[in-house]
Parts: sequence; structure tokens; C-alpha cells
Amino acid sequence: MGSRLKAQIRASENTALKQRAKFVSSGVAAYSSIVVDHAQNALIWDNDGKKYIDFAGGIGALNVGHGHPKIISALQKQAAKLTHTSYHVASYPDYAAVCEKLCRAIPSSVPQKAALFNSGAEAVENAVKLARFFTRRSAVISFGYAFHGRTLLCLTLNGREKVLKSGFGPFAPGIYRAPFPYPYRPPSGLSPKNLTEYCLEELKRLWKTEISADQTAALIVEPVQGEGGFIVPTPGFLKGLRELCDAHEIVLIIDEVQSGFGRTGKFWAFEHEEILPDLLVVGKSLAAGMPLSAVVGRSEIMDAPPAGAIGGTYGGNPLSCATALAVFEIFEKENILKKAESIAETVQSRFNSFEKKFSIIGESRGLGAMRALELVLDKKTKAPLPANQVKQIIAECEKKGLLLIKAGIFDNVLRTLMPLTIHPKDLTEGLNILEEVLEDFCL
Ligand SMILES: Cc1ncc(COP(=O)(O)O)c(C=O)c1O
Repeated sequence: MGSRLKAQIRASENTALKQRAKFVSSGVAAYSSIVVDHAQNALIWDNDGKKYIDFAGGIGALNVGHGHPKIISALQKQAAKLTHTSYHVASYPDYAAVCEKLCRAIPSSVPQKAALFNSGAEAVENAVKLARFFTRRSAVISFGYAFHGRTLLCLTLNGREKVLKSGFGPFAPGIYRAPFPYPYRPPSGLSPKNLTEYCLEELKRLWKTEISADQTAALIVEPVQGEGGFIVPTPGFLKGLRELCDAHEIVLIIDEVQSGFGRTGKFWAFEHEEILPDLLVVGKSLAAGMPLSAVVGRSEIMDAPPAGAIGGTYGGNPLSCATALAVFEIFEKENILKKAESIAETVQSRFNSFEKKFSIIGESRGLGAMRALELVLDKKTKAPLPANQVKQIIAECEKKGLLLIKAGIFDNVLRTLMPLTIHPKDLTEGLNILEEVLEDFCL
């Protein structure tokens, strides 16, 4: 490419960032300085033609990769046929077909139904509404470090203060929080082994001190916490929640917005613990980056409210539904779960070696391909690596052509959400870049 053309392209990139700085609310975070031109599978290119390996996958929305031919074809066909009526106004077959796929994906003999929305947060809100209406109770319990979205109810449910909640109160009433087992950082004096029992006991204490179990409509939990830092709860915790919900007729809402669609090696992360949700919240990779989310659950709960109480103008938009059907087909035909397993093995083994090699890696952890590195100043004290240093590592990765994002309540966790369709060569190259950057940082 000629240098004049390159300069022109650079200028247009800068213009895009200048325009962003001038006209886009700075409350909308910018995790990188990349201005994207196009993308294919796990690679994205900026306006300058520079290639990046994508370990962020649109924050976990692209488990089947960028620009999959089946997704493009579904979108093109649908765009030419119908883009919107609102499902309330006139039915179209794909909405119910997506709901059927979702219901059949729940390994339960209890009849299931679903409803479609636009974002993860909107689906969470609706799951809470459904649980309240069905139980005729009001209290909802969420967990420490949880992330469920950015609407006011979701903010209230979140177990993280900084950036997400500060300055946005007062919050919605009727929400209580119980501790979540974070094995790397257990409360002092507790071993990770005792965490399950501790957390379940604390939940029971909440029912004695704050709100009774028989006033509790729902518990809402991520089977592996996403924004919280890819925290995998201790064995038995989710099963314990299931038992407590059964004992007190409480609706168990499992939020798989980030962990679903094969990310952990099983279609749903809850399958690892052999439990079933009463309501499941789904989003992100359901429609390969098109806005679509869902609540799927026991028919008696899904059917409880009157017609008109659930839904919205755009929920289950025809373009998003056509894409979701293509996503299901890709999962069925291309053995994505097997691919997730192989990614998990590669990333886990490299991350475990990084943990041994680098003084700043406190823990390598995760479930399936949902893997993370928690960065610390000191392995003994576990003092988190300051956020500005984590940012520096991410920026160095970006310079070398790897797009990576962070998570965690201390902003010190590097997480991997690469497409599950990533080419093994790109996966290795991305991991090599990260290793190089960590090496330079630790010099
Ligand atoms: C577990 C979980 N729930 C809900 C949400 C909110 O989804 P959305 O950003 O689509 O509203 C997220 C987003 O990251 C999430 O990770």
C-alpha cells in the first residue's frame, strides 16, 4: 500500500477517534484504541490494514466467530424479506423457532417456554419480573462480585461498586446480596475447601437476619462469574443453591449471558454441576453479535403473567432470530463443543505455564474455554496488580496485534473470550504475543 494512502487512512482513523472523543459520551468505555474496518472469524483489521487476533470476541458474543458464511447468508436473506413488524403485532415463524431451539436445549423433562428480548440486562429484568409474578413474593437475592447488566435493576443486583454503581443510586428495593465463593480470595481464616459451606450458611443467615425465605422470589446466579473475574464457584455451591430453592419454593435464575453457548465446553455451564435452572437467562452468543437475548424456563413460570406484561417493540427482531437459528445450526453441524474443548486444553496449559513462569500471575483459572489470569503484585500477599499496570499490559498486547480485555473487581484479571472457531495457528500466535508481553513486563 502506498504511503499516501496509508497516511489518508491513518487520518480517517484519527478522525473516527476524534469524533468519538467529541460526540460520544465518555461514559461509554473504550477498552482499546482500535478503529475496526472488518473482521473474519477470530481476526479483525483496522483501517490501516493492521491485523489483530481477537481474544475478546465482542465480549463473548462471537462464539461462532466474525462473519461466518451461514450467519451472513441468514442475515442477507432475512434483510431482503422482513426486518420488523414487532412480534406483538404480527407473528413470524423464526421467533417461535428460536424459542423451540432454546427450550429443547434445556435438558429437562419439565415443559419449557421462552421469550425473546434485546440485551442481557433486559432478559435479567424480565426473569426477575416473571419470578416475582409467579411466586407473588418480592425479594431477590444476588451474589457478591456478580454482574447482570447496566439497567437500574441490574445495577442493584450487581455485586460490584466501583464504576458500575457509584453515583447511580438510589437503587431498586427488595434486592439482597449473599457471598459468592471466590476460591482465590476466601474470607480470612477460611480455606477454599470450606467455602461452599460458608457461603450457603451465610445465605441461610440472610434469611434469618434480613428477609425470610418465604418472602424470597428468586436467587439469581452466574454459574461462572464473567465480569467478576471468571470466578468458578467451589464444587457443590450451585447444587446447594438448587436444594435451598427447592426446599423454599424459590425460583432459581441462572444467568448464562456470558458462560452459555459452549464457552465452558458444555452448551450451558450449569451442566457441569448437573443442576437445572427454573429460569435461564441467555444473551450474547445466542445471535452472533446481533442484539438478542432470552429467558427460557418452566412453562408455568413463563406463562404466569397476563399477555402484554412481557415483551417489547424489538424483542426477537426477525434479523436477530434468523441469525440465532444459524448459530444453532453451526453448533449442530460444526462440532463447536469439541472445538471449545481443544481451545480450553491449549489455553489452560499455556496459562498454567505462565502462572509458574511469571511473578505477577497469582492464579490461572477457569472452566472450559472461559479462562483467566489474575494479576498480582505479589503472589504471597495477593495484592492486585494496579489497574493502570493491567491497562499497560493490554495496551502492549494491542500494539503487538492481540485484542484482549480485563475483568474482576480489582480490574486485574485478563480473560479469554476468543471465538470458539478460532484457527489453532491464530490461537497459538495470540498466546505467544501475551507471553512476550508478560515477559517484557516482568523484566
Ligand atoms: C452474566 C451477564 N449477565 C448480563 C449481562 C448484561 O448483558 P448486556 O450487556 O447484553 O445487557 C452480561 C454482560 O456482560 C453478563 O456478563
